[in-house]
Amino acid sequence: MKTILLTGAAGFIGAHTAQALRDRGDRVIGLDNFSPYYDVRLKRDRVKALLPNLKIIETDITDRKALGRALAKIKIDQICHLAAQAGVRYSLENPYAYESANNLGTLNLLEFAREREIKSFVYASSSSVYGANKKTPFSVTDPVDAPVSLYAATKRANELTAYVYHHLYGLRCTGLRFFTVYGPWGRPDMALFSFTKAILAGEPINVYNHGRMKRDFTYITDIVFGVLSALDHNYPYEIFNLGNSHPVSLSLFISTIESALGKKAKARMCPIQPGDVPATWADIKKSTRLLGFHPTTNIQTGIRQFADWYRSYIA
Ligand SMILES: NC(=O)c1ccc[n+]([C@@H]2O[C@H](COP(=O)([O-])OP(=O)(O)OC[C@H]3O[C@@H](n4cnc5c(N)ncnc54)[C@H](O)[C@@H]3O)[C@@H](O)[C@H]2O)c1
Repeated sequence: MKTILLTGAAGFIGAHTAQALRDRGDRVIGLDNFSPYYDVRLKRDRVKALLPNLKIIETDITDRKALGRALAKIKIDQICHLAAQAGVRYSLENPYAYESANNLGTLNLLEFAREREIKSFVYASSSSVYGANKKTPFSVTDPVDAPVSLYAATKRANELTAYVYHHLYGLRCTGLRFFTVYGPWGRPDMALFSFTKAILAGEPINVYNHGRMKRDFTYITDIVFGVLSALDHNYPYEIFNLGNSHPVSLSLFISTIESALGKKAKARMCPIQPGDVPATWADIKKSTRLLGFHPTTNIQTGIRQFADWYRSYIA
């Protein structure tokens, strides 16, 4: 049994990851500041449903002293760092939230690992580091020096900072570039949640880039498999894509939601938003070879699972 410090444990990916770790018998130390970026009630309900009896340590990772105090007496084997200020569009409005939670927060976690001699660090990066990469699918060997949002820039900065800690202090670091994750208990700022809510309420949805956007939507259970595998393999230093590797157009995504809900969307066509990338597509050959990563959930199944969860949660 390992003890894993999991930051962002009240978040979408964090809570599912913590649940899977606990189910297999690992000890999870969950940490989160329940940031108000989206409905805090959803975070509390998520923790209650997925992590019964787990007391989340409510600490802000940007407060280095508080972090040290909160974890002072706990022996930790591995860190799974998923806390972040997420969201691309919000980074245009509030750049400092990203600088603080993502850059300073990650540095504090890396320093904490160094001070406490914790030798294993798995952290969330993002497909957004590929910027407007034209070559598809996106491979971890592609250049990632032209991010198109501050969110992406902080995620790339996290990868570089983690590399420094690996190089200088021998910290074993694995970065996971997640591709548009969706599923039950998902984030309300993401398309599946907001579209479902609007369609059921009979309200219009904004369809960016006139529906010609493509996203490599990846189901939460597949992502969690990749995170656990990265923790278990504990490679000295690696970066992996975790994506479904089957990009779908926004139009197909919306018609799949309509079928799952049995209701038509009122679509409002809009141009692409600043900071958005037109398409994402993960090359997962390396993740398959080194992590045994084989995503198994297609969008028809995944969206149905989400719709079922959404209806029961709202009810
Ligand atoms: N969901 C996706 O599609 C996706 C895609 C690419 C990358 N990611 C990355 O995966 C990770 C998890 O994303 P998610 O979708 O679960 O997002 P989320 O917002 O649901 O979870 C992040 C959690 O971190 C917590 N947090 C934020 N700032 C904090 C701070 N200063 N101190 C302590 N906790 C803090 C939040 O309260 C939240 O519960 C993030 O690093 C995100 O950038 C997610």
